[in-house]
Amino acid sequence: MKHLLSAANLSRDDALQILDTAAQMHDVQRREVKKLPVLRGRTIVNLFFEDSTRTRSSFEIAGKWLSADVINVSAKGSSVSKGESLRDTAMTVAAMGVDGLVIRHHASGAPLQVTQWVDAMVVNAGDGTHEHPTQALLDAYTMQQRLGDLAGKRVAIVGDLTHSRVVRSNLILLRTLGADVTLVAPPTLMPSGIANWSAAEGFSYGYDFDEVLPDLDAVMMLRVQKERMSGGYFPTPREYTVGYGLTRDRLRALPDHAVICHPGPMNRGLEITADAADEARSLILDQVSAGVAVRMSVLYHLLGGAEA
Ligand code: CP
Repeated sequence: MKHLLSAANLSRDDALQILDTAAQMHDVQRREVKKLPVLRGRTIVNLFFEDSTRTRSSFEIAGKWLSADVINVSAKGSSVSKGESLRDTAMTVAAMGVDGLVIRHHASGAPLQVTQWVDAMVVNAGDGTHEHPTQALLDAYTMQQRLGDLAGKRVAIVGDLTHSRVVRSNLILLRTLGADVTLVAPPTLMPSGIANWSAAEGFSYGYDFDEVLPDLDAVMMLRVQKERMSGGYFPTPREYTVGYGLTRDRLRALPDHAVICHPGPMNRGLEITADAADEARSLILDQVSAGVAVRMSVLYHLLGGAEA
């Protein structure tokens, strides 16, 4: 595997190998001496055309802890703000002799497009409403740490599915790992073509959060992406919370062993209450921590180690 553009690039064995290596990287992360020499002499550029806190920082930390040289280029503060195209930007950066590009872009398919212009390894760090494969890997890693093997585990992904790249990558990876996935959203935020998609990929979907809640091993709440809803968003915030928010009442209906995930950033009080975000079953900060280990593993497999 030269690039990681989609969770569909990963067979079950690939995914398990990356998750196993991530566990070893997590051990490194917990120790005082964190640096491994495996990417010494390699240069990675984080090319971010959209804002990010978790993904960009954790890729930077991951690369540095593997001893790579890591440079951040974002749209703000680069020649992108002067109108330079994606092609010219990618080729300019690549011409400096970089080994890897980690790309976040508002256009679905941009990282794949870049692989046709440059020789460097490319990782998709989130492209439009398409995919975010390293988020899915870190989510799977975090759930697996708490729940064990994900085969047969019941996972609901709830919220603004229409605008979510996280749901697409998670759905693919969780199905690859054998989890039983249900998507839940209000009708206005359910992707069009959901019936065909669900039949093809073998997952269920519905509009009633309360119906699925008592049977879950994990619930993943998604952010309502107001910035991608130019015409306003429906239902109203209050209706959304009543129908689809992880509220105090719903926490009572969630089994004690079940875990709560959210890729962040959260709209506290909209899709998730502070009670849910901060309670013992919440793995939200574990996800953030796993982001470093998982991205170390991905960079290692793509640039420095054995073929994944
Ligand atoms: N989950 C996620 O991609 O967060 P950032 O936008 O902060 O990177």
